[in-house]
Amino acid sequence: MNIRPATADDAEFLKTMLFEAARWNPDWPREAMEEVLDEPVLRRYHEGWGRPGDGGVIAELDGQPVGAVWYRQFTEAEPGYGFVDEKTPELSVAVQPMHRRKGIGHALLHSAMVQAREEGSQALSLSVAVHNRSRMMYQRAGFHRVAEEGDHWTMVANL
Ligand SMILES: CC(C)(COP(=O)(O)OP(=O)(O)OC[C@H]1O[C@@H](n2cnc3c(N)ncnc32)[C@H](O)[C@@H]1OP(=O)(O)O)[C@@H](O)C(=O)NCCC(=O)NCCS
Repeated sequence: MNIRPATADDAEFLKTMLFEAARWNPDWPREAMEEVLDEPVLRRYHEGWGRPGDGGVIAELDGQPVGAVWYRQFTEAEPGYGFVDEKTPELSVAVQPMHRRKGIGHALLHSAMVQAREEGSQALSLSVAVHNRSRMMYQRAGFHRVAEEGDHWTMVANL
């Protein structure tokens, strides 16, 4: 497995990963990707990908992208689900279903945290459903709960 920085050229792959992250629960009915990505809040996560402040890392197997952790700064006026402030990028994470539970998500998370710190960020945030078992991965990486809304937690890691 190879991990490399995400670029503007990864916009289409990151859309497929955003779809996986937004519809993480396999028990939910399958919806069309384009419809999901067109939801007003989700559009904030992918529109104009590659603008200043956007960053992340991509995992590749045999040269093909299989997963990503990527982040973006949101505004008070148009926040993400895990918004804490305008300086703190919010991350998203997904690995293609057939490549899960092999340590890729954990490795990506670690790399993204190192990269964000090198870029000058002091913290990263995220939003996770309480029942999503990726929460354990975040907690092990140093994320802690800062807010709770419905069945979602907002978590922050100081870098
Ligand atoms: C969450 C996700 C990115 C994890 O990637 P991954 O490559 O499978 O993660 P890893 O193999 O590094 O596992 C990391 C840890 O995450 C937790 N975890 C993740 N998915 C899990 C699952 N389905 N069941 C149990 N634990 C899980 C475990 O603590 C695991 O550690 P362990 O294998 O030592 O028990 C991947 O499962 C995924 O893409 N899920 C759908 C999208 C999603 O939920 N995104 C997050 C939205 S907030």
